[in-house]
Amino acid sequence: MGRRWAAEYHDLFAGDDDVTFYSAVSRKAGPTALDIGVGTARLAIPIARTGTRVVGIDSSMELLNIAHGKVTSAGGGVTSRMRLLFGDIRDFSLSREGKFDLAYAAAGAYNRCRSTAELAHAVACVRDHVRVGGTFSFDLVNVGDELLDGMPRLDGVAPMEDGGEVVRHLAWRKGRKRGDVECHATYERFDARGRSVERVAEREMFHMFEPTEVAEVLQLGGFEDVNRFSDLKGGRSAGRKDDMAVYLCNRGP
Ligand SMILES: C[S@@+](CC[C@H](N)C(=O)[O-])C[C@H]1O[C@@H](n2cnc3c(N)ncnc32)[C@H](O)[C@@H]1O
Repeated sequence: MGRRWAAEYHDLFAGDDDVTFYSAVSRKAGPTALDIGVGTARLAIPIARTGTRVVGIDSSMELLNIAHGKVTSAGGGVTSRMRLLFGDIRDFSLSREGKFDLAYAAAGAYNRCRSTAELAHAVACVRDHVRVGGTFSFDLVNVGDELLDGMPRLDGVAPMEDGGEVVRHLAWRKGRKRGDVECHATYERFDARGRSVERVAEREMFHMFEPTEVAEVLQLGGFEDVNRFSDLKGGRSAGRKDDMAVYLCNRGP
């Protein structure tokens, strides 16, 4: 079974914290938002439901197709308020869309940038698409060294509507380049009688960024008043390398 299912299973484990966080950021920012790495529109749909016009970009046609199906059936004005576009988050130009009040990149989309230079390029792109004084927010994940041993670990169990469940195992391994981390995810689906009916594996490469490099990239990229939280509930970061870092900043003049 292919990536389509892995993406859908991924959403089952995502939780609601980031939906709550980015929805609140969007309400404050204004009526237009750019979802960078929109995936299956997991966040974009609830944000569009609040009345925000959302443009989502992603480089995966499979995920955009899933998102398109969800947007089309969402109703409630969501369909007319959302646009999904194919694009690379490291280098895109949406000049016809005008400047956005908010750009956000959730669930570690920027961990897919493979170097500080790529991240800097991505941030420069965002600056071109956000109005002066507009908001830019994103989160980055970090995996502690102690987990980078390649051992599969039970990461959670998600119930399914048919009474079955999906079990996820994650294994993390150091990549060749410093900061690169390979993630192996396995999703196993069981039916209501506990029989294994599907097993999907996915492998993805992430890059972990030091908080100091991110701060520098943002400053050079023209974003100011950076608030960094260690989690999506607004918990303050101790300034060290955290499991997750959430950034909230404004575009300068
Ligand atoms: C973990 S998913 C997050 C999806 C969505 N934001 C969410 O929170 O559910 C990361 C997304 O970034 C997209 N992505 C990764 N690298 C990309 C790139 N270079 N350009 C555009 N999209 C990219 C993937 O296709 C995927 O949809």
